[in-house]
Amino acid sequence: MASGTSRDVLGRGLWVLGRAIREQPRIFAVAVSGSVLFGLLVIASAYVVGAVVGDVVVPAVERGEVAGGALALAATALFGISVLRVVGIFGRRLGAGYMQYRLQAAYRRRVTRRYLDLPLAWHHRNSTGTLLSNANSDVEAAWYPIAPLPFAVGTLVMLVGAVASLFFTDWALALVGLAVFPALFALNVVYSRRMAPRQARAQRLRAEVSGIAHESFDGALVVKTMGREAQETARFASRAGDLRDALISVGRLRGVFDPMLETLPSLGTLAVLVVGAIRLRQGAISVTELVSVAFLFTVLAFPVRAIGWVLAELPRSVAGWDRVRRVLDSTGEMPYGTTTLDPATREPATLAFDDVHFAYEPAEAHLPGAQVLGAVTFTVPAGKTVALVGPTGAGKSTIASLAVRLVDPGAGRVTLDGVDVRELTAASLAGTVALVAQVPFVFDDTVRANIALDREGVGDDEVWAALRLAEADGFVAALPDGLDTMVGERGTSLSGGQRQRLTLARALAGRPRLLVLDDATSAVDPRVEAAILAGLRAPADGGAPASILVVAYRRATIALADEVIYVEQGRVVARGTHTELLTTVPGYADLVTAYEQAEQEREQNRTYDEVTPLPSGLEVDR
Ligand SMILES: Nc1ncnc2c1ncn2[C@@H]1O[C@H](COP(=O)(O)OP(=O)(O)O)[C@@H](O)[C@H]1O
Ligand SMILES: [Mg+2]
Repeated sequence: MASGTSRDVLGRGLWVLGRAIREQPRIFAVAVSGSVLFGLLVIASAYVVGAVVGDVVVPAVERGEVAGGALALAATALFGISVLRVVGIFGRRLGAGYMQYRLQAAYRRRVTRRYLDLPLAWHHRNSTGTLLSNANSDVEAAWYPIAPLPFAVGTLVMLVGAVASLFFTDWALALVGLAVFPALFALNVVYSRRMAPRQARAQRLRAEVSGIAHESFDGALVVKTMGREAQETARFASRAGDLRDALISVGRLRGVFDPMLETLPSLGTLAVLVVGAIRLRQGAISVTELVSVAFLFTVLAFPVRAIGWVLAELPRSVAGWDRVRRVLDSTGEMPYGTTTLDPATREPATLAFDDVHFAYEPAEAHLPGAQVLGAVTFTVPAGKTVALVGPTGAGKSTIASLAVRLVDPGAGRVTLDGVDVRELTAASLAGTVALVAQVPFVFDDTVRANIALDREGVGDDEVWAALRLAEADGFVAALPDGLDTMVGERGTSLSGGQRQRLTLARALAGRPRLLVLDDATSAVDPRVEAAILAGLRAPADGGAPASILVVAYRRATIALADEVIYVEQGRVVARGTHTELLTTVPGYADLVTAYEQAEQEREQNRTYDEVTPLPSGLEVDR
C-alpha cells in the first residue's frame, strides 16, 4: 500500500511537517514563539503558585495573619503571567491557523494546476471522484497536524525547561519527571503507530465513497432510466459501511489510548506527592518547592497532549500527502516549446502528419500499449478541407487529438506550417488550432461567456460572427436573454445539436487557422451540417478560410472536402476525392452507404434537433 508501514510513518510524517515548516518559516516562527512563551509562563506560574502557598498561605495559616505586601506582589505576578499567556496563545493560534489554511490553499492550487497540465491519458486513468478528493480531503488531511504543531513544539521546549527546573529543585523529583514525560511520549508514539494503518484505510475509503457518489450523480440519467437506483444505492451503501467500520476502528483505538494519556500525568502528580512528602520530611525541599512541582505536573498534563494530537494526525497526514504527491509527481506532462508562429497572420495553416505512430498507455505499466496508429502520413494544405473517414475505432479521434496536441506521437512528427507542434509555445498553439469534439461541453454560464471565454479581442461582434458561421445565431437570438441567457447544467437546457453548434462557435471565435472537427456536428441536421462546412470554407465576410480537418460520415459533408483520407485500423488505406474513393475503394463505398441508410432511418424518425432545414435563423427547434 502506498502509505507505507506504520513503522516508517512517524519518520515520513515528520518529513511532511518539515516540508510545511520550510514553506511557511516565518509564520511558523511566530506560532512557535507564542507557544514557547506560553510554555515558559506555565512553568513560571507553577513556581509563583508554589511561592504563594509556601511563602504567603502557609505562614498566614501558621501565624494567623496575612502578609499584605507579599500577597499583592504574588497577585501582580500571576496577573502579569496570565496576560502574557494570553498573548502567547493568541500568537500560537493565529500563526497555526494562518499556516494551516495557507498551506491548504497553496496545495489546492498546485493540485488543480497540475490536473490541467497533465495529459489526457492521465485523466483517462483517474476518476473525477478521486481528483475531487485529492484537491479537497487529501490536501486537508496532509496539513491537519499543522494546527497543533506549534503547540507541540512549544510543549517540547516547555518539557525540557520543566525537567531542568526539576533538577534545580530536587533530583528525586526530577527522576519522577524523567520517568513520566518520556513514558508519555512513548505512549503517544505507540498510539500513532497503531493508528497509522487505520487512518490510511479510512482516508482511502473516503476517496472511494466520494468517487462512487460522484459517478452515481453524474450518471443519474443512466441510473434512473435503466432502473439501477437499487444497485447504485447498494454499491454506495456497502462502501459507506466500510468507511463507517474504518472510522469506528479509529474511534475504538482512540477510546483505549485517550484515557491512558489522560491518566499518566495524574499518576505522575501522585508520585510527586509521595516522593515529595518523603523529601519534605528529610528536609531536602521546602513546602514552596513541593507545591510548585506538584502544580507543574498538573498544568503540564494538558499541553503534553498536543504532542499526541500531532502524532495521532500524522498517519492521516502521510496518507493524504502520498495521494497529493502522486498527483504533483505525475509525469507525462507535455512541455511546450519556445517557437511562435507569426501571431499577426490570419492565413490558414498547413497541417502535416509525417510517419506518425501512436499507442495509448497501457492500463497497467507492464503491459505493452496497443498500437493505435501506424505510419500515418497526410497533409491538410493551407485553406483546404480534408475529410477523415473510417469505421469506428479506426483512430480518427486519435488523429484529431494529435493534430491539436492533446497527445504526442510515439514516433514521427506533427507539424504546423512546417514547425513540429512540440516546439510551439502554448499560446501559439492555442491561437492557431482549435478542436471541436463530438461530445460538446458547455459551461454553466451565459452564452456569451461560453463562446468568448474571456479571450482578448472577442467582443459581442466577434461572438455573433462566430454564431453565424456555426449556424447558431438563429436560436441564440430567439433565446429569452440572447447572449446573456444562462446555459449549461442548470441553465436553459439546449438540445444536443445546439450545444454542438455553441462549442463550434466557441472554437470559431478564436479565429483558428486550423479547425479540427471530430464528428462535431453529428446531432445537427445534415443539411445544416453541410451549410456550416460550406460557410467555413468560404466565409461570407470575405476573410481567409481556415484549413479544416473534419471527421465526417455524411455524403453531403464529405463531398465538400478537397480530399478524403480513408483510415482503417490506424492506417491510411486510401486517399483521393470522394468520387474517386467511391469507385476504387470497396470498404469506403460500403461504409458511406451503410451510414447513409442508418441516417435515412434516423431522419424518418426525426431524431435531429431541427427538422426544418435552411435558411438559418428560421430553424424550428423540437
Ligand atoms: N484513452 C484511450 N485509451 C486506450 N485506448 C484508446 C483510448 N482511446 C481510444 N482508444 C483505442 O484506440 C483506437 C482508436 O480509437 P479512436 O481514435 O477513438 O477511433 P475513432 O475515433 O476512429 O472511432 C480504438 O481501438 C480505441 O479502442
Ligand atoms: Mg472518434
